Order: sequence, then structure tokens, then C-alpha cells
Amino acid sequence: MTKIAVIGGGKIGEALISGLVAGGHSPKDIHVANRRPERGKELVETYAITDYTDVNQCIEDVDVVFMCVKPKDTLSILASMSDTLDNNAEDTTVISMAAGVTLKSLEEVVSAGTPIVRVMPNTPMLVRRGTSVMSPGRFVGEEQLEQIKGLLGTVGDVFVVDESHMDAVVAMSGSSPAYFFLFVEAMIDAGINLGLPRAVAKELAVSSLVGSGHLMQESCEEPAVLRANVSSPGGTTIRAIRELEQSGLRGMVYRATEKCAQRSNELGAVKASAVEDEAE
Ligand SMILES: NC(=O)c1ccc[n+]([C@@H]2O[C@H](COP(=O)([O-])OP(=O)(O)OC[C@H]3O[C@@H](n4cnc5c(N)ncnc54)[C@H](OP(=O)(O)O)[C@@H]3O)[C@@H](O)[C@H]2O)c1
Repeated sequence: MTKIAVIGGGKIGEALISGLVAGGHSPKDIHVANRRPERGKELVETYAITDYTDVNQCIEDVDVVFMCVKPKDTLSILASMSDTLDNNAEDTTVISMAAGVTLKSLEEVVSAGTPIVRVMPNTPMLVRRGTSVMSPGRFVGEEQLEQIKGLLGTVGDVFVVDESHMDAVVAMSGSSPAYFFLFVEAMIDAGINLGLPRAVAKELAVSSLVGSGHLMQESCEEPAVLRANVSSPGGTTIRAIRELEQSGLRGMVYRATEKCAQRSNELGAVKASAVEDEAE
């Protein structure tokens, strides 16, 4: 079975580990590295994987390394692993989950020829319903790409895009679960405002969101048609839709996603300039 190292067992690292284990990947083939040993112990207790505090020991002789640390830490940690990656018997594929960090800057801190894939995941990976969007670097072969697709496919849907679309992808899928959580939070409070008990409001809001998600995925109709189908002339739904439109819902979504994509781009630029400073 593919030997995997997860560098950074935080929210995304744990979501990946949890999904892989639930999807049948053997825990003994999964390593994790954290700075804090107590975090490693928590993950060992939950998933029976092996923990390390030394990233180089963690990646020795593994096939695939998932970098799940913060964008600002990704390049320096990857650079510190370069010799071990070179010494591993087989080519180790490196997957970076970091928002904004480009393939060019990742490839610059390791030896030429190291296969690197940039991936934008999202947290529904925790329940094996994630969305992972990949852009392979120039040294990734077809077989390696299929291997990574297979691993990420155990924790949700996988898509491949050109790297030039990655900032937009961060806005569309990497960060979007938070928009939907915020919308549901607002729906729950709105339900309470209408006199429903909190628990009932939550059940109804979550169930409606999940059901609408399944309907959009399984129906061949566009979301606009599905919405029109539940908006009878002069009815209740169209009254609500009119309020949402008047409050500027579409404009808000355009602006929020633009800001999100911009921030992803800034994170990449900051990281690239930090590497140039270190090299000077
Ligand atoms: N959260 C999301 O929804 C989301 C979505 C898409 C992409 N991402 C990307 O996923 C990556 C991880 O994000 P996250 O939200 O999971 O962050 P997080 O919860 O803060 O986790 C980061 C982890 O990295 C570990 N770490 C930091 N420095 C380390 C080092 N030197 N050696 C080993 N481990 C180290 C931390 O361990 P300690 O706790 O021990 O310090 C922590 O467990 C980011 O690059 C982010 O851009 C996140």
C-alpha cells in the first residue's frame, strides 16, 4: 500500500488522515508530523497512525508527502526536507495543500526533478465529501498523477485545473464551505426569530442545504431552473428571493470571492518574496 506522510496534522491534515483511514488505507502506512508532541499523540490515539516531531524522519521512504502546514511555513519546511527526498529510494511525490503557494516556488526549494502537485482541498474531506482541485508540476508523470487522484478520491471529488485558475479555485471550493456554514448560521438565527426552537431550526436548515446539494448534483437542470421551479408566481419563495436580491446577495458573492482570490494571490507573492530575501 502507498506509504504516506502528512506534514501538519491540523484541520486539513486530520481531515485527510481521517478520510484515508475511513476509506480503508492502512493506518500503519500513514505517518504524521506535528511540532507539538501532544497533538501527535491525539492523532495516534484516534487513528492508530505513527507520529513524529522530526519532519525528515517522518518522510523517510514514504511514497507520497502531503504538506498540510500553513502557507507561510510550507516552503521553509519543504526546503528542510530536500535531502531526505533525494535520498529516498523511489521518487517521492510532494503534494502541497497550501493556499497561494505556487508550483514555481515549491519547485525552487527542492532538487530539480522532484514531482510536486499543488492541491486545493476543503474541510468536508473530514467526512469523505471533500473537493480537491489539483495542478501537477512539470516533473509529475501520468502514473503519479493517477496515484494522487486515487488517494484524494478516497476523501471526495477530485478535479484537475491549470495552475492559473488556482486563486479562483481557492475562492470557489477551498474557502466556500465557510460561506455555506455562515449562511446556515444565519438561517438558524432567522428560524429562531420566527419562533422555532434552535435545535429544530438547525435540523431544518442543514437538511435543506444537504438536500438542495444532492438535488443540484443529481439533477441535469441548472441551479437557476431549480430555483425557478420552486418560485410560484406571487408565492412565498419569490418574496424571499426578492428580499435576498434587493439586499445584494449576488454582489456580495462576487465581492467576497474576488477578495478571497486576491488574498490567495497575495499569500503566494509574500511567500515568493520571502524566499528571494532568504537567498540574497
Ligand atoms: N482549513 C481549511 O479550510 C483549508 C482549506 C484549503 C486549504 N487549506 C490549506 O491547508 C493547510 C493547512 O491548513 P489548516 O487549516 O489545516 O492549518 P492548521 O489547523 O493550523 O494546521 C497546521 C498544522 O501544521 C503543523 N505544523 C506547523 N509547523 C510545523 C512544523 N515545523 N513541523 C510539523 N508540523 C508543523 C501544526 O502543528 P502544531 O499544532 O503542533 O504546531 C498544525 O498541526 C494550509 O496551507 C491551508 O492553506 C486549508
